[in-house]
Amino acid sequence: MKRLTLAVATLSLFAAPALAGDPAAGEAAFNQCQTCHVVENPAGEVLAGRAGRQGPNLYGVIGRQAGTYEDFRYQPSIVEAGEQGLVWDEENLVPYLVNPQDFLRETLNDRRARSGMSHRVRNEGMAQDLVAFLAQFSEPAEEAEEAAD
Ligand code: HEC
Repeated sequence: MKRLTLAVATLSLFAAPALAGDPAAGEAAFNQCQTCHVVENPAGEVLAGRAGRQGPNLYGVIGRQAGTYEDFRYQPSIVEAGEQGLVWDEENLVPYLVNPQDFLRETLNDRRARSGMSHRVRNEGMAQDLVAFLAQFSEPAEEAEEAAD
């Protein structure tokens, strides 16, 4: 796993120079997520975390419409944000992770919006590391669908 992370880190230096996060640091920080989240590919292999099911599977989350992982019951606000066009990317995930509730309130322009995720990442730098880590488990949607067949 360590070697894989390193290879991906080296790759992303070339592929995405704008990406500030460090995926290796993100892997360590993912400890705080795994009580609730798992990263499991369509073949059923757990790539990160253990068996956390309180939150949605984060495999392929970047590029996914918010609130749309099948078989997960989201709170209404995040579903609404997705329906209004919110698709997760490396940029918008950072403020979401730092404060999901504020993020949804701003996105929906609704002060009463609520997040089903109470956890907040300590600061932006750590959120960027986590996003860089999660980016390793995202692929174009068609490929993910093919793999699921
Ligand atoms: C206490 C449980 C819990 C922890 C800890 C937690 N989450 Fe969540 N997370 C959730 C729940 C529940 C949702 C669904 C939110 C909703 O319905 O509004 C969610 C939603 C998300 C989403 C949106 C996914 C989607 O499909 O739209 C992302 C991204 C996410 N979490 C990432 C993380 C990361 C990264 C961490 C670690 C820093 C983390 N979460 C920690 C429970 C948790």
